[in-house]
Amino acid sequence: MAKLTVNELEVRGQRVLVRVDYNVPMKEEGGRMVITDPTRILATLPTLELLIDKGARLVLAAHLGRPKGKPEPSMSLRPVAEKLADLIQRPVAFVDNCIGEKAESTASTLKDGDVLLLENVRFHPEEEANDAEFAGRLARLADVYVNDAFGSAHRAHASTEGVARLIRQRGGQCAAGLLMEKELRFLGDELETPARPFVVILGGAKVSGKIAVIDRLLEKADTILIGGAMTYTFCLSQGHQVGKSLVEPDRVDVARAALDKARARNVRFLLPTDHRVGRPVETEKRDKKGRPIVEYREAHVVDGVNLPEEQAGLDIGPKTIKAYAQEITGAATILWNGPMGMFEDSRFAEGTFAVAKAVANATRNGAKSIIGGGDSVSALNQSGLSDQVTFASTGGGASLEFLEGRELPGVAALTDR
Ligand code: 3PG
Ligand code: MG
Repeated sequence: MAKLTVNELEVRGQRVLVRVDYNVPMKEEGGRMVITDPTRILATLPTLELLIDKGARLVLAAHLGRPKGKPEPSMSLRPVAEKLADLIQRPVAFVDNCIGEKAESTASTLKDGDVLLLENVRFHPEEEANDAEFAGRLARLADVYVNDAFGSAHRAHASTEGVARLIRQRGGQCAAGLLMEKELRFLGDELETPARPFVVILGGAKVSGKIAVIDRLLEKADTILIGGAMTYTFCLSQGHQVGKSLVEPDRVDVARAALDKARARNVRFLLPTDHRVGRPVETEKRDKKGRPIVEYREAHVVDGVNLPEEQAGLDIGPKTIKAYAQEITGAATILWNGPMGMFEDSRFAEGTFAVAKAVANATRNGAKSIIGGGDSVSALNQSGLSDQVTFASTGGGASLEFLEGRELPGVAALTDR
């Protein structure tokens, strides 16, 4: 680790601003917001407990959702403060504005081991603008900065980047938390020289969102298994019939170039050989943006690479599942990012859940498995297998950007060793 970590800090009696990623899924229940998956909160406990043991005074900053720079009651972090208090088994104070007098006076009266959670930093437009004055007001709340918000480290915002820069400039220490350190290790160092065979499973809707990762992994992987709607842009690039599948015609060249690179580098690049399809039908119902909601009718399996005119590919088929599971079983290192199909619809979930199961089985037999955040981790959680893989990232976009080899602004801003 090239950056200072929380292990090395001596912080007794000091106020430590800890950026955490508490952007957790919530739903409304009887007029209040309830957390439906506390994974991201649980993942920060080791860092918080370590700091508490060291006698620090904790000021936690986080965002929730995308409130667009103004207070939005449904995106308040207050329910998170309650949940955190339960999990960490100590009181968690809460202030309803992350900057200003109340935040400053509360932060200054904290005792060693006390915990304060600030309201959603994105209630201020200056957060996402990485405004220096706003960052300065956050910096006033603390002596030391710790970033444990891997899931937000790809954002150069005031609470992830600006405040760290300011605290460093005034001579303060800025360290990575234990979760941050672990994420960077598994998604970074552990994949530098992977045990072979190294099998990468990539899914998701769009080639455009994954091409940079594919390109990078083509230099490391032995085998790449493709699923999700991006399959069909690859199929299109090979002249196959894709019916009504979601495709990106403007990415066909990019897809073809990836296939060429795989051939040139001797990377086995597998596309589905059968598909579970449905016939898209526009309904009368409208989504939030007023667009017609599409339903998929008559789900069934189509063998072979060509799809009928009226059908959209929505999951990998049983033959592909078998072939992919076999590849996964033979792997020594596995990286999985993105679902194999539209798994939120149970008719098109089999491929994704079968991959989750195969990854868990391979892990049991000694493979190292790393799951790159977002939808693949929710699929893993839904199948009850999240504790049966080596590492499941708490970052969605952040894990993708990191796997692309990009520098994360939230990490870059920390103190060098
Ligand atoms: C996430 O959930 O991806 C992170 O918390 C970052 O949120 P954002 O995508 O709204 O910046
Ligand atoms: Mg995101």
